[in-house]
Amino acid sequence: MNKSNQRKTPFFTKLKEYGESNVAPFDVPGHKLGKIDNDLIKYIGKKTYLLDSNSPIGLDHLNKPTGVILEAEKLMAEACNADKAYFLTNGTTTGILAMIMSVCKANDKIILPRNVHKSVINGLILSGAVPIFIQPIIDQHLGIANDVSFDSVKNALDANPDATALFLINPTYFGVVSDLKTITEYAHKNNLTVMTDEAHGAQFYFSKKLPLSAMDAGVDISASSMHKTAGSFTQSSIILTKGDRINHQRLRATLNMLQSTSPSSLLMASIDVARKTMYFKGETKINKLLEMAKETRKDLKTIRGIKVIDNDYFKKRKSYGFDETKIIIKVSDLGLSGFEVYQLMKKKYNIQLELAESHIVLAILTIGTKKSDLNRLVQGFKKLAKEYYKIKDKLPKIEFEYQFPETFARPRDAYHAPKVIVDLEEAINEIAGESVMIYPPGIPIVIPGEVISKNVVDDIKFYQNKSKALQSDLDDTKITIIDKENWVKYSEKIKNEF
Ligand SMILES: Cc1ncc(COP(=O)(O)O)c(C=O)c1O
Repeated sequence: MNKSNQRKTPFFTKLKEYGESNVAPFDVPGHKLGKIDNDLIKYIGKKTYLLDSNSPIGLDHLNKPTGVILEAEKLMAEACNADKAYFLTNGTTTGILAMIMSVCKANDKIILPRNVHKSVINGLILSGAVPIFIQPIIDQHLGIANDVSFDSVKNALDANPDATALFLINPTYFGVVSDLKTITEYAHKNNLTVMTDEAHGAQFYFSKKLPLSAMDAGVDISASSMHKTAGSFTQSSIILTKGDRINHQRLRATLNMLQSTSPSSLLMASIDVARKTMYFKGETKINKLLEMAKETRKDLKTIRGIKVIDNDYFKKRKSYGFDETKIIIKVSDLGLSGFEVYQLMKKKYNIQLELAESHIVLAILTIGTKKSDLNRLVQGFKKLAKEYYKIKDKLPKIEFEYQFPETFARPRDAYHAPKVIVDLEEAINEIAGESVMIYPPGIPIVIPGEVISKNVVDDIKFYQNKSKALQSDLDDTKITIIDKENWVKYSEKIKNEF
């Protein structure tokens, strides 16, 4: 690889040139390179609008790149040790949908852990693939589901020799990784295509001190949110591929089905420049970040009432690895749920955390994280713990047990099945017709086609009480279920359909 090529930013450079070229724009977008007046342009200035173009001459097309977008994608592939890269302007959500839909045809089996992001479930609905769920390692102490063991994947693969694909998360939202290389090698021996959700793993491509990236582990196709941890604008992501298992024509067709015909040039430019910065400065900046994270963990560990969940914790639990740019704090010993701490930290100290779960909160650190902000995080927790440690015995204990429901029908069949809406209480032992989750992390408590046990209803109620982040298609007291009376007739009808 010619390292100096990575200094180039072909898309951004051309976009800037076009914006400054004094062109007379008779195309869209309608702001005509910022020749309008509104509150946003007054606030951010005209330059941002100069960079918002929609495929004029010379700026290539995301739907069929042959020019500067293709060049920028090639540089991305090279930087990430991939064979090919695709820019995405609708997040890893679209990347995941496209990966599943292009690799799996209807009724193909796909092996995957159940604690996947909702986009994966939507990928199952759109593709018609049949999920074979692996139970992830469930950590009841923290109230979360995390990585998968090699043995659990091997068992699923051995029991399903006809499976088409394996889908894994690298890393989980909480930064934990599985032994991706060994698992991928085993899956390849069994002729499976391996895909990964690297929404939280873009930084792996730019540091040797972080867990192995999907491309280095030999994974066939992966979607990665450049916007989450590599410094580009929100919604900008990439797909990376390696080897010859991917049908690029089908992937391109699927991406063109899912993505806008007017992709944001600002987002694409932000990926182009983020790649350059991460390539040249990522290693040094991540090393510095890891040092700061270590010091912060040390300071947090001195605070009575909270516990820092670190690499040693996960090692003892036999997890394969942990991304130390994540800081996980167990707060439930203060008598507060993670959800309450998430709200209190913002309200009292203006500290915005990434997410909360029943027992923990999560802070995400990137090369943009400043020492002064980490100091605020420590001070915030010091004050909070001091206040609540005194009264913790008077507060109710946080009781929560993590579990997943049983499967009754393929997600696609359940999605299309006749449905009715009922009160949550009436839904026990019925089959879900929709996904319900807390967001973030967006891991569904129940998905279409799963049995709504009493535990599911209790979990939903727990989250309703504790978290303000419950998401479903309806208001929180109702749920969509399959209309059992019409199900038999319906399932007869779709027997031979996709
Ligand atoms: C594990 C996981 N996968 C996929 C996604 C979707 O990524 P994006 O927000 O880039 O669409 C998210 C988003 O939070 C996520 O947490």
